[in-house]
Amino acid sequence: MASRRHLVATLLLLIGSVAAQNGIECPFPGGAENGGGEAECLFYTACRWTGSECVMQNNGDIGYTVAGAPQDTGRGFKVGLDLIDVTKTLFEGDIRRLELEVIYHGNYSVQVKITDAESARYEVPVPLTLSDEPGTAPLYTVEVAAAGQPFEMSISRAATGTKIMIILKNGKTRLILRHTFEPRNTWPIFARDQPVGTGFMNEYGHHPYYSVVEDDAGNTHSVLFFNSNAMVQTVGTPEFPPYWSLGFHLSRYGYTSTDDVRAVRQRMKDSQIPQDVQVCDIDYMDRFRDFTIDSTNWGDLPALTDELHADNVKLTLILDPAVVIDFDNYEPVVRGRDADAFIKWMTPSLVPGDQPAGTSDYMVGYVWPDEKTVFPDFLKPETQDWWAEELKILHDKVPFDAIWIDMNEPANFGTNMDKPFNYPEGLPPWSLKCPFNVYDSPPYPTKTIRVGNSESQRLSDHSICLSAMQTNGNQTFLMYDTHSLYGWSETVATYKGMMKLFPKKRQVVLSRSTFPGSGSYAIHWLGDNTADWTQMAMSVVGMIEFNLFGIPMVGADICGFFGATTVEMCARWMQLGAFYPFSRNHNAIGEPDQDPTFDQTVAAISKDVLELRYKYLPYLYSLFHMAHMDGESVVRPLYNVYPSDLTARDVDDQFFWGSGIMVAPVLAPGLTARDVYFPEDIFYDLVTGEVQSTSAQLLSIPAPLEKIPVFARGGSILATQAPALNTVLSRQNPFGLTIALDSAHSAEGEIFWDDGEGEHVMSEAYMSMLSFEDNMLMSMIMHGQDVVAGLSIDHLIFYGYPSNPTTISVGGEALDSSAWAFDAATGVLTVTVDLPLDTEFMVMFM
Ligand code: NOJ
Repeated sequence: MASRRHLVATLLLLIGSVAAQNGIECPFPGGAENGGGEAECLFYTACRWTGSECVMQNNGDIGYTVAGAPQDTGRGFKVGLDLIDVTKTLFEGDIRRLELEVIYHGNYSVQVKITDAESARYEVPVPLTLSDEPGTAPLYTVEVAAAGQPFEMSISRAATGTKIMIILKNGKTRLILRHTFEPRNTWPIFARDQPVGTGFMNEYGHHPYYSVVEDDAGNTHSVLFFNSNAMVQTVGTPEFPPYWSLGFHLSRYGYTSTDDVRAVRQRMKDSQIPQDVQVCDIDYMDRFRDFTIDSTNWGDLPALTDELHADNVKLTLILDPAVVIDFDNYEPVVRGRDADAFIKWMTPSLVPGDQPAGTSDYMVGYVWPDEKTVFPDFLKPETQDWWAEELKILHDKVPFDAIWIDMNEPANFGTNMDKPFNYPEGLPPWSLKCPFNVYDSPPYPTKTIRVGNSESQRLSDHSICLSAMQTNGNQTFLMYDTHSLYGWSETVATYKGMMKLFPKKRQVVLSRSTFPGSGSYAIHWLGDNTADWTQMAMSVVGMIEFNLFGIPMVGADICGFFGATTVEMCARWMQLGAFYPFSRNHNAIGEPDQDPTFDQTVAAISKDVLELRYKYLPYLYSLFHMAHMDGESVVRPLYNVYPSDLTARDVDDQFFWGSGIMVAPVLAPGLTARDVYFPEDIFYDLVTGEVQSTSAQLLSIPAPLEKIPVFARGGSILATQAPALNTVLSRQNPFGLTIALDSAHSAEGEIFWDDGEGEHVMSEAYMSMLSFEDNMLMSMIMHGQDVVAGLSIDHLIFYGYPSNPTTISVGGEALDSSAWAFDAATGVLTVTVDLPLDTEFMVMFM
């Protein structure tokens, strides 16, 4: 296993030219990639013109000098840094004196904090999970240049002396997991309502995080730049999702009525396709107003909810942050105003002259509803209480089970433009227009303004202005600083509201915009993708990255959101999506149906592969439990499971569930086979148990349309349960164990079990450790026998069994020989047993 012990650096402030080296591009606002000749270059006195390029001046000519000897703090050290030359600047206002503080958090993490030594500045108000102890033998050493020298700093791995470079990584819109840094690239980071695409654009979230495999031995570190400005794990462990949320979710934008949903549910039932969750998008609302129900087509949504519940299917409802301004007819906005719940302009002088009546100094925008909106300030305790109350009022009407929070970058339509694309015809054009000041038009607006669907080429594009004010009751914040925290803050507020509705339960809050730490409250989907093979392949990289960001419950819109899918693409995407931790088919309005029943071939393939998913849900659940306890990832790239396998580092079209199941989805049309890279181990076909590979190699594996290549890794014991139409039913079915043997004919695994939805209390949950070694299968119960009363294992299936056993005995009693079957051609041994989970067992094979 890869080292899960990550170095974490948080860079809290970086203003002005902190350090420069030969040849670093000068990051002037127009963008180095857009040329910018000598004259523009020399306008920035910290830059120099090489004859062909604009680069930063050398370190020593600009930057900082180390002011004195480092002072020991007991947790690390502090040292001052002085600006070398005030006349050499990019954007002026460079901080004269910085303080660099190195703080050790236990042995595995070191934090590097650079602040203005003379005045306090905004720091991200999101708690991190870090040890308060300095550690006894830190893995990393930090060195800075001597007093009086130009500032330089290095962080090294103590054991190997390897210098760790600090280079920024982010990104979801990528096909390749591994970054190459030639030519030098810049990845902008600033939450934006930006559909999935290729190129250097940033999408909905903000995750300034990267991970580096340092050497051929696989030593690995990770860095988090803990900054929410336009720019772990430390971020806390992810929430433990309820078992039902691991089932299949069906969704679309554009259901026309409750009967439309009933019809699709009926088709799913007729086709016997597993489904645990039905999702309703903004269609259910009255004119897209949060907390309302359209009485014409959705009036019996409460009855539909009861029908779904009677079928063991849960209901997810969407909510958007934007709240429509209609003080006469819409109570939520009145109650919100009473609670003073909405975001305000930072100063009354910025309030536009055409501010709608009754909106005081709230910032007004326009999103889905047909009237202007305000935006809740979710950092504010009063807003959180108001939101929780609105959730309760809605739940009293429609007993939903999960909430999907969308558009929370926050999205606003047509900002700085003539008018939003959906602005009512006949009204004079209007849009939210942001002022030109240091917050909305900062000297260095970052590459964010030039990439993606940036209509107005401003930071506030697709969002609200940054000259806004938020408060948490104690402090006020500028939207300039907190913009990218909006989704995180809405997640926390929604989670708190859900805790009031469902006390002592695990919540499902599906959020589009996320920030480091969101994983403790949210699950996530990768946003508006397109029915396109490349985007399907990109979802594998996105899913892996969000596991690294601490949000393992993640998946893309299966079969593609925009665009019409095809039978082949949707079949392949259902196969891949059956292995997304968050498995949801979602479609855009106006697109043809793509639920699994839209075509008989897709329906048959979906049923088959979702049954495979449901069979292995007990294993997936135990992975989520480990993620929640220790921060382990659920989906892993190959290099994570095989850190010293150099070939594995470049594999981004395969992935693992934990370290026991390897998935190699088909990601291109017209294929009946695909090349699969097998690291050095024994791999078996997960379904047939046949050996596929016993050494590191690339093999062509047959993959006719009805088959996704999936493999069990030798050495794993995987818990299964007979699949069913939903998890309420499958959780009552007998367990099985898939025992994939390694070259020493041994394997190990575990079973974690609890009620699947209550608060996680370790001592009250069931956990047993399983091992197969020296021809003996053993279980060791750690705790929680009561939880599994009545549940038992009814079969064992061994992959790679060497020969037909002559005797198999359970607790000393020999089984009748009819209890097992051995296939000498495949090495698959199937044994019928009856092993109650609440009793430790020992099965001997002779
Ligand atoms: C944007 C979301 O990303 C998409 O999934 C949803 O269907 C639409 N908003 C409509 O609510």
